[in-house]
Amino acid sequence: MLKEKKLTMEKKQAAEQEKIICSCTGTTENKVKQLIVKGANDLDKIASATGASTGCGSCDILIIELLEKK
Ligand code: FES
Repeated sequence: MLKEKKLTMEKKQAAEQEKIICSCTGTTENKVKQLIVKGANDLDKIASATGASTGCGSCDILIIELLEKK
């Protein structure tokens, strides 16, 4: 039972890490978070590094929310 719960949590964490926030470029939330930790502090820097936000732009708000959470 405990092992199953642990496996479920690991799958959930893996899914969260692979959550795509920019469908135009396939950029994951985890990738954006990593860039923020490394010092990317605005949308332009995230866009330059990943291409996210350079297509339809609908992911802009998601990236801005991540930037504001840091
Ligand atoms: S979803 Fe990111 S540019 Fe379209």
